[in-house]
Order: sequence, then C-alpha cells, then structure tokens
Amino acid sequence: MKSLAWALVPSVLSTGLALGAVPLSSVKRVSNQPTVANKFIVEVDTLANIPNKRDLSAHEFLYESLRKRDVAFEVDKEYDSQGLFVGAALTLNNANDAAALINTPGIKAIRPVRKFARPVPVKNQPVKGPKDPNVPPDTQSTHILTGVDKLHNQGLFGKGIKIGSIDSGLDYNHPSLGGGFGAGHKVSGGWDFVGDDYTGENEPKPDADPMDCGGHGTHVAGIIGADPGNEFNTTGVAYQASLNAYRVFGCDGSVTDDIIIDALLRGVRDQQDILTLSLGGSDGWSESSSSVVASRIAASGKIVTIAAGNEGASGSWYTSSPGNGIDVISVASLDNTVVPLQTANVAGVEHGPIIYFQTFPLKLAGSYPIYVLSKDTTIPNDACDPLPESTPDLSKYVVIVRRGTCTFVTKINNIAAKGAKAALIYDNGNGFTAVSVGDFPAALIQAADGEFLVQQFFAGAPVLLSFPQDNGSVSFPNPDGGLISSFSTYGPTNDFYFKPSIAAPGGNILSTVPLNQGAWGVKSGTSMATPFVAGSAALYLQAKGRSAALSKGIRTVFETNAQRVASSHTDGDPLQTVTQQGAGLINVYDAIYSTTLITPGQLILNDTAHFKGQHTFSVKNTGKTPKKYTLTHVPAGTAVTVEPGTIFPSKGRVPLTTASVKVDLSHKTFTLSAGQALPITARFTLPKGDAKTFPVYSGFIEIASGSEKQHVTYLGLGASLKDKQVLDNTDYFFDSPVPAILNAAGESQTAPTDYTFKGEDFPTLLYRLAFGTPSFRVDLVDSNIKLTGTLNPRGFFKGPWFSFPRPNKGGSFAKVKTIGPLSELSFIPRHDEGQDTGYGTFAITPTFANGTGIPNGQYRVLVRTLRVTGDHTKEEDYDAWLSPIIGIKA
Ligand SMILES: *[C@@H]1O[C@H](CO)[C@@H](O)[C@H](O)[C@H]1NC(C)=O
Ligand SMILES: *[C@@H]1O[C@H](CO)[C@@H](O)[C@H](O)[C@H]1NC(C)=O
Ligand SMILES: *[C@@H]1O[C@H](CO)[C@@H](O)[C@H](O)[C@H]1NC(C)=O
Ligand SMILES: *[C@@H]1O[C@H](CO)[C@@H](O)[C@H](O)[C@H]1NC(C)=O
Repeated sequence: MKSLAWALVPSVLSTGLALGAVPLSSVKRVSNQPTVANKFIVEVDTLANIPNKRDLSAHEFLYESLRKRDVAFEVDKEYDSQGLFVGAALTLNNANDAAALINTPGIKAIRPVRKFARPVPVKNQPVKGPKDPNVPPDTQSTHILTGVDKLHNQGLFGKGIKIGSIDSGLDYNHPSLGGGFGAGHKVSGGWDFVGDDYTGENEPKPDADPMDCGGHGTHVAGIIGADPGNEFNTTGVAYQASLNAYRVFGCDGSVTDDIIIDALLRGVRDQQDILTLSLGGSDGWSESSSSVVASRIAASGKIVTIAAGNEGASGSWYTSSPGNGIDVISVASLDNTVVPLQTANVAGVEHGPIIYFQTFPLKLAGSYPIYVLSKDTTIPNDACDPLPESTPDLSKYVVIVRRGTCTFVTKINNIAAKGAKAALIYDNGNGFTAVSVGDFPAALIQAADGEFLVQQFFAGAPVLLSFPQDNGSVSFPNPDGGLISSFSTYGPTNDFYFKPSIAAPGGNILSTVPLNQGAWGVKSGTSMATPFVAGSAALYLQAKGRSAALSKGIRTVFETNAQRVASSHTDGDPLQTVTQQGAGLINVYDAIYSTTLITPGQLILNDTAHFKGQHTFSVKNTGKTPKKYTLTHVPAGTAVTVEPGTIFPSKGRVPLTTASVKVDLSHKTFTLSAGQALPITARFTLPKGDAKTFPVYSGFIEIASGSEKQHVTYLGLGASLKDKQVLDNTDYFFDSPVPAILNAAGESQTAPTDYTFKGEDFPTLLYRLAFGTPSFRVDLVDSNIKLTGTLNPRGFFKGPWFSFPRPNKGGSFAKVKTIGPLSELSFIPRHDEGQDTGYGTFAITPTFANGTGIPNGQYRVLVRTLRVTGDHTKEEDYDAWLSPIIGIKA
C-alpha cells in the first residue's frame, strides 16, 4: 500500500514540524498533478455499437479517428475483453489532444492514468527459525479466529480452485510454495508485466518469469498457499489451491493503472476463480480505471479481493483504489494478539532486561550510564521546558524522562539541546505503545521500569544499559490484539459507498518470504489481510462448488456471517465504526455452514440530502428444520469524521460517540419453516447530531437463531455531503492562508504583479483540498470580475467525466465571462499531510490548457472545486476562490 515507513503508531509530527507552521518557502513551484501526464485510458464501444465502422476492428477504428484529427499518439496497451473492457492505453504527444477524442463516435470514456506506490508493509521482520521470539507464539491463531482451522479439520484446503495474485511476483522456488513453476506445480502459471527495472516512470519490459523482487508477493502467497510440514508448523489458508503470479512491480518504484488493468484481464483469461490485489492508493473515489475494471470483473462472477489500505492514521474518507471498485471485496486488517518488542539489558544492579516499545533494536552500541532529570516519579511535565544551565553534558548517557504534558518531540529537543544522544521515556499511565520521535534513538518503557531506574540513579547505583542488536525480540501481549489495526484505512468513499467490506487478520502475520531474504518473516498490513480473504473464498468455493452465482454472492455471505469487532478492550466502549471494520471479522466456517441466507448484506442510508430511511432485507431459512429468529439492533460507534471546529477530517483513530440511529423493524421474532423466506422492513431515524462534524452512523441488525448469529450492516451520514467544504481557505497547514499565488520569490502574492515567464518569473497556484472533489477547475478571468451574482450555467460541462481541458465554449461565472481554462481535473482525492506533500501546486504558463497562447494583459485566476453530490451546472455547488491580479507580459 501507499504508505510511509511507519513505526507501529505513525505520526506526522515526528519531524517536530507543527502544522500551521509549514513555511511557504518550502513549496516547490512546479505542478504536482495526481495523474500521469500525457497518458490516458480510452474505453471504446464494442464494434456492433459503432456506426460506420466499415470492416475495422474497434481498435483500428479508434486509431483512424485519431489520425484523422492529426493526433500524434503511441499505443501502450490494447485491451480486448468483450463485456469487461475494450479499449487502449495511449500516450499522446500533447495531452491537450485528448480533447479531440471527446466527440469521437464509439468512445465511451477517457480516463487519466493513476500511479500506485508499491506496497510497503507497516512492519517487516525476518525471522531466523521457530525459536525466534518474533514468531507469533500461536502461528495458527489467525485460523482459529476465523474458523479456517475447523475447515482444515474437515479436509478443505482449496483443492481445485485457482487464485491469481497481482503483486511483486512470487518466489516459486520456496519449498513451502511448491518449489517450482509451471504446470503441475502449486504456482502453475503467471506473467511478469514489467521486468526488474520498471519503476512506474519507464517502459515496462514484460517476460514470462514472475520471480519476486522485493518479497511482498511471496509473503502474500504464503498466507494463501504455504504447505504444511515447515519448521514453523504453519500453513496457508488454502494451500491446495493453485496460484498464478501476476507481477506488476519492478524492483523499485510504483505501477500505473494501465498495467493493473492488463493483469486483471489476463487473470480472467487464465480462468482464475479469484483475483487478489494487495496494492492500491488512497483516492476516495470509485472511478479510477482499475477500480472500474475490477468492479466489472467482480460483477461478472469472479471473486476480487483488494486491500483497503494502510492509511488509518489519515482518518475518514480516504479509501484506496482499486479497492474502491463498487463490487469488489475491500479488506481491512485485524491485529494478531501479540507484538514482538526489543529489550535492553541492565548491569550494575539486579534487574531483568527492560522491554522497550520498538520493533527493531535502538541502534546503540556498547553500555551507557543513565541520567535522570527529576527525582519525582510523578512529575507531570518532565523536560517540557529547556533544561537548566546546571545540566551537565548529556552526550554519554541514556536519559530517562517521564511521559506527559508536552510532546515526545519537545522533550527530545530539550534534552538533545544538552547533548543527549539517546533516551528512554517511561510511561505515565497513558498506555504502553510505540512513540514517534523521528530518527532520535528513543522508546517508551513501562512505568515500573522507569521508576526503578530513577530510584537507582538517585541511590547512586552504577546502572549501565546495553541494547543487544541481534537477540531477537520478546512477544508482548499486543494491547490492540483482536482489534482492527490502527493502520487500517477508514472509509467510506467520498460518495458514501461501503468500504472497507470486511476484516481479516493482517497485523503481525508470519508467512513465507523469498529464500534470499531468509524464507520466513512477519509482516503487517491490509496487504496481509487480503490474501487471507482470497484463501477463505477458495475454501468456500471448494465446499459449495464453483459457480458465478456463488462468487457474486460471496461478499454478502462473508459480510452477513462476520464477527463484530470492538473499538477497544475497555468494557462499555462502542463497537468499532463500520467505516473501519466493514461488516466485521470474516468467519469462513459460518459463511459455509450457516443455514440462514440474508440479502442484501449492506444497507446504505446515504447522506441527509439523499436519506434512504427505509430498507428491506430478506431472511431465508435454508436449513431442513423450522427455526425461530430474534432480531436486535446493535449500534457501532458513531465516527466523528470531521474534526470539530475545522473543515478537516479527524485523524485516526477516529473519535467515536455513542449517539446512534433508531431502528424500527417490521418483525422482531418469528419462525420460518425449512426453505421459507421473510422480507423484513427496517425504518431508520437519525439522532440529532452536529452536522458540522459529518458524523457517520453505523451498526448492525443481528439475526439470531439459537447459536447461529448473523447480521446486516448499515451506514448513514448525519449531514449532507454537499455541505462539506472542499477547498481549504485556512492557514491550518501553511504559515499563511491558501489558496495563494506564489510569486517569483515564492511568496504569497498580495498586490497586482506582472510576470515575464522568463526563468523563475512565473506565478504558481498553491492550494489544498480538505475533501475529495468530483471536479477541480482553474480558469482565467477578467481582472475586474467580482465573485457575486446569480447563476449563469452556460459553459459548464455535462456528460462523461474527463481529466483534461475541453475546447473552450466561452462561459461565465458570477455573471463574469471566463476567458479560458488553465486546468481541469476530475475525481481528485483530498490532500493529507501524512501521505503526500499535503498540498497541490499548479505552475501557470502563458498558455491556455489547450496550448494556445494567452494574450498579454491583466487577469485573475478563478479556482473552483465542485462539492460532492453537487450539480456541475450550479454555481452554488462549487467552492470558488479568485486570485489577485496577474499581469501576463510574456
Ligand atoms: C503442529 O500443529 C499440529 C496441529 O495444530 C499439532 O498437532 C502439532 O503438535 C504441531 N507440531 C509442532 C512441532 O508444533
Ligand atoms: C537475550 O534476551 C534474553 C531474554 O530477554 C536474555 O535473557 C539474554 O540475556 C539476552 N542475551 C543477550 C546476549 O543479550
Ligand atoms: C445516494 O443517493 C443518490 C440519490 O439517490 C444516489 O445516486 C447514490 O448512488 C446514493 N449513494 C449510495 C452510496 O448509495
Ligand atoms: C484554446 O483555448 C482558448 C481559450 O479558451 C480559445 O480562445 C482558443 O480558441 C482555443 N484554441 C484552439 C486551437 O482551440
């Protein structure tokens, strides 16, 4: 997944840079658009639908149309999967030529090409052998949590089912993965779409050998397919299934949409029953090309499992594509029950090793005396202020500091100012967790260990600490074990689709890694949860029979048989929001053997402007005897998705409240005879809530019969999406408000300024999106425009979306004529300082988007962002910003 190299608890503040203080001068004055310049994916109608087609193929017809319009292009890929996707990936010499395609008969859609970073596990720990303390103590615990162990006991291992994994490749020489490649082996086929040297920026060099480069795909494959008989006594979920490896990452860099689509369609041609993708990037929209194709494949009767993303720290409304594909199964991660931590050895006094909260050892060689700042082990604000003059040089000590009052970074900065090069921070009761302090060697220790060190120091004991570098780690009960992983991405999508769908174990997972990386390792991520669901689906198909109808229904069956997950281990805390757990933790045994069928599995109440308060679902007794049912409403925590008092999404873990919807059910207890079904009507009423925090209500209606418990899952928004401001007009992130025009000196332009467009003398638009937008537009307008007035819809576009400027047809905004477009982008994600640069830039050139020069003169720039569910033709549905006067003197 697109992700930073996080510690267990990521923090954007680890560099010590406070938001609101990012200097404008740090902005690079170049355009940073979210899609690949000049590349487009064009979908064409199948031949029968194209008028005057003569005897050309659909592709030739497209190319001929382009040549007729003098468009210079190269074909990167052709797609020809009737019913799923027919079209081509094209590189145009001039991106503006894409506009020429709009009115070409037979063209259904033109989409930009997105880039997806290679998946980086949240944690990555090679293990040396079964005795390595990094190995989770019960390597099969994930199977027990999900009912897989019971299916294995029945002899179900996925035999006869084909699973295609789209990833970094696979080390098929691994003895636990069959030790070979091709017919007759576990890894029976596959393809390398890119070659070792592919980076996402250069030409892919495909070949027939999908050997792993990086190790991610081999770990994914072992979760599905590791054979028994290995030294760890662990097995894959469906180790008798056959695997195909579709490699889409080089040894470095990212991958683009066009290649993911190619791999998806190849998997369909190779007749895989299940396609699994542990990759993606946050965008919050279901419209990217690979999302659309993945969703169509799922709707056609294949099972498609895709990672939900590791961006939990970024908060709500940040789902990943292609997992956003409407019909695919997007998979969240649940933490395994233990976490491996490091220890420091204590000499000079009698005391066992001290556990500190780090996955890898602090890089400290030799032994260190300790230095303690305060004798008071209840001091609330240790090292929150600059240390007194009298403090000695701290460079040869490990400094012991108490947690509390100010940030870890402040404490570190204060002790580092006195020369300290290492620290242990002891807990003040807030909980033993990972702390983020940048590159400074520091970690949290437990309160009792800290208090012991303080007492020994003031008693004058010659305490020495050392930090073994290769003594493995100890298994510490994971404080978050059994809960949704804090890194697991929050939904819903920007347009309120139900994502993620379901959760599976993905935190602290032991599996295979390439032989040259040590053969076995522990990793964490939704990347690890996703193949677990793919393997579970194989068990399901083996038990129930392979069929398109069963495959189409599997998401509903998995969702209705899932297990609800709490938000914490504290009694009385609400269930985790559906926006992070989906319908809950998968239970594949129940999915196969329950004798009640519930459809649909998801009820979307939508936003308040489109509130759908009444839903019907069916409960069917598929058993052989009559059954008595009891229905109960079980609310989950309500996600406060926007930080109160701001326009920005709350960061993860997203705060929850216990406000909940009211549900009236048409039937609460009833009996169904064998084979009988009953439609149930549920009427939902939202509570009064603060719409400005965009509360997402969610929960379950439990359908219980004896020990069999299932549920339907609902999701509703206590606000209108159209009220959600998109364009950031605050100084939340920078040291001055955005949007802004940066002048040649990189300063925010206030007075009218002329630009020559020579060297550095050009204006750059700087903006931030606080929420995703279906349409982002930058237009040039007269310098005397005022942003008031009534609607005049002329010139606003309609119809299929596109990501390049249309031929200008005039138009106006706020009664003032717009002169021409400079940039237009569709379905753009919000900015997030934890995941990307945190802002957008657009370097203005003296040309319109179509390449025509702008006459010299005085202008302003009008920036508009359409709000979600807004009407393209309604002025009031946009956020708009008007720049200071820009003089073009090219
Ligand atoms: C391996 O797992 C099986 C089944 O859980 C168990 O019976 C056996 O004792 C285990 N063997 C070892 C060496 O741990
Ligand atoms: C390694 O760790 C164990 C358990 O924490 C400890 O007993 C042992 O002394 C350590 N060995 C070294 C060489 O640090
Ligand atoms: C919300 O309602 C609108 C209007 O009925 C509909 O177009 C949209 O698809 C709904 N959204 C979801 C996620 O169901
Ligand atoms: C390019 O756009 C400008 C502004 O919208 C327009 O005036 C001009 O005619 C366009 N040029 C071409 C070649 O379409």
